[in-house]
Amino acid sequence: MNKRLLSLALLVCLSVSAWAKEGMWIPSLLEKYNIEEMQEMGFKLTAEDIYSVNNNSMKDAVVLFGRGCTGEMVSDQGLLFTNHHCGYGQIQSHSSLENDYLTDGFWAKSRSEELPNPGLEVRFLERMDDVSDKVFEGTDGLSVEAADAKIKTNVAKLQKEFSTDEFTEAVVKPLFKGNQYFIYVYKVFKDVRLVGAPPSAMGKFGGDTDNWMWPRHTGDFSVFRVYANSDNEPAEYSEDNVPYQPKAHFPVSLNGVQPEDFVMVFGFPGSTDEYLPSYAVDLLMNQTDPDRVDIRTTKLNIMKQHMDAEAKVRIQYSAKYASTSNGWKKWQGEIKGLKRLNAIDVKQSFEKDFTDWLNKSDNTKEQYSEVLPQLKDLYSQLKPKLKAYYYLMETWYYGTDAMRLANTIHRGTANWDSKSDEEKKAAKDEMYKAIEAHFKDYDRSTDEDVFVALTRKLNSDLDASYLPEDFKSIMAKSTDEHLRAKIYRKSLLTDKGKMIVWLGNIDDKAIAKINKDPLMSFSNSLSDAFYSVRSDYSATNLQIKDLEKKYMAGIMAMKEGERIYPDANNLTMRVAYGKVEGYQPRDGVDYKHYTTLNGIIEKDNPEIYDYNVPQRLRDLYNEKDYGQYAVDGELPVAFIASIHTTGGNSGSPAINANGELVGINFDRCWEGTMSDIMFDPDRCRNIMVDVRYVLFVIDKFAGAGYLLDEMTIKK
Ligand code: ARG
Ligand code: GLU
Repeated sequence: MNKRLLSLALLVCLSVSAWAKEGMWIPSLLEKYNIEEMQEMGFKLTAEDIYSVNNNSMKDAVVLFGRGCTGEMVSDQGLLFTNHHCGYGQIQSHSSLENDYLTDGFWAKSRSEELPNPGLEVRFLERMDDVSDKVFEGTDGLSVEAADAKIKTNVAKLQKEFSTDEFTEAVVKPLFKGNQYFIYVYKVFKDVRLVGAPPSAMGKFGGDTDNWMWPRHTGDFSVFRVYANSDNEPAEYSEDNVPYQPKAHFPVSLNGVQPEDFVMVFGFPGSTDEYLPSYAVDLLMNQTDPDRVDIRTTKLNIMKQHMDAEAKVRIQYSAKYASTSNGWKKWQGEIKGLKRLNAIDVKQSFEKDFTDWLNKSDNTKEQYSEVLPQLKDLYSQLKPKLKAYYYLMETWYYGTDAMRLANTIHRGTANWDSKSDEEKKAAKDEMYKAIEAHFKDYDRSTDEDVFVALTRKLNSDLDASYLPEDFKSIMAKSTDEHLRAKIYRKSLLTDKGKMIVWLGNIDDKAIAKINKDPLMSFSNSLSDAFYSVRSDYSATNLQIKDLEKKYMAGIMAMKEGERIYPDANNLTMRVAYGKVEGYQPRDGVDYKHYTTLNGIIEKDNPEIYDYNVPQRLRDLYNEKDYGQYAVDGELPVAFIASIHTTGGNSGSPAINANGELVGINFDRCWEGTMSDIMFDPDRCRNIMVDVRYVLFVIDKFAGAGYLLDEMTIKK
């Protein structure tokens, strides 16, 4: 596309949705960059109401939930909302055949029935500060590697200095590709109990079929409570702990949303890459994404065959299937979205502007003229290594259950001789746990099929120079039947009883024996290949990172005076905002901004696992018993807005103009999943469960209306 056409295309996009506001902004800088715009869009509060160090503010009601989700306080008694898929591990761990909370849901009838979750932590942010000066101290004039090492030391020192006790954690994270560093100081709460969750048939309604899609009908929420000691401070789990009284909690609004309403999402996004050069986008959309999709398609098809054929396998593989397919589906949307946006053209045209800009002065010429040409060169060096890295990752590292176990055993037994008795015991315990967990969800014939298909694929698709000799020679001389009979089925690793006996008698001889195991030695040679390509790739990548830091600095200099936002960087608190609005996914189709219970009933089909509606919900629908949660006789379920979110924003509060909770964020629309690389105001939409549906499920469906008594409900 030529440049004129391109800018025309951009203009057209912009005119379609003038409300969508790209960006994930830093809460402490809203006053400077955003608040005026937010207020113009309808927000009625101040920047200080959102983030304040000295006074209580909304930030005190938003938490990092576990290691990858967000949650929010909804009462002054520590009550917390997050997604069902964020609490899934906890709900599952409390489930058994007698108490199947995944299937039936769970509701604590009193505080004493709330279930503790060892290992689950939530983090409240105390403060965030720019510590760039301290992080860069002593790095002037150092080589790339030496500066990197020095920065790591400085970061470690700062983190240590500010992590003052076992419940105070300081982390330093880079912003703008390492041109800036912020410290985040958290209070860590370690007693977090499960209060309630709907049945999976509602909390996961639509399952992987509807995942990443709109129109959506998933009641993706669960309820926890944060506990503290008698001084309202964080503590290890204890029966004597009491509900934590947070500095702030969100009022819950029953008023719902209308198209064009201002909404903001306040949470902990994981990672985005909005400032990549064209070469990197090219690699992603034309190599990495398609390769990973292709390998996972093979794997998912095999899993699905076995899951459809046998109920036991469906249960064993449902979580694995979900996590494999989540990325698989997203990347397909990402490829499509980037193509539709002509992302490479857009990036190239930006790079041309950048080059024109830097050529304007000797100073900028000297600083930046080599950056893009060098990046181009490095990315072309990286290309084959990156392919090998992802191929080995997808086929070996994540590939088959048995080879994952092999990898665990390999690491657990490494340097056995030099371990103390205590270390041996710890390693043994770890391996024992891993073996138990592995076999609980292992189906031999499924995994064997995956093994044959993925090793064949690796052998035929990846450049032979990246593959170990013994692997290639086995693959060349073996039929599939041979791979099954002589490698897979012969292996100790596919037999739980034998593995337990082996571990029980572990000594040098046993370790030597298992390293000769056909599957183990097969896996070990792929492991060597994987780690060697990874270190090769990392060396190139370190240089790329350094140049991208420079490129980012150049972009910031070029755009001086304009506001730009830093990429999401590994779960630090951000504010994103936009408006409630539908979209047009393709020609002739116009999506509304909301869905209702009617849509759940339309999808209802007891034959289809993802769409099997609980009878009680059908009854409530038939009686139209929606209480105060309906609008004109319909029960709202989910809605979308033009807000820039990503993974990690799951569970984030969706907040209206008055600072009240109107929804819980849980996904994005498929046509907009390229927003991690390039945001399209026209099609990027985040998906939230309507808080009225959440309250309806708690109150009417589950009969746990007593939980509403402690919330601040706004009508
Ligand atoms: N797509 C959402 C996210 O990225 C939900 C994933 C969990 N649900 C699923 N059906 N796999 O986290
Ligand atoms: N489901 C995602 C999560 O777990 C959020 C969806 C997204 O990537 O935007 O964080």
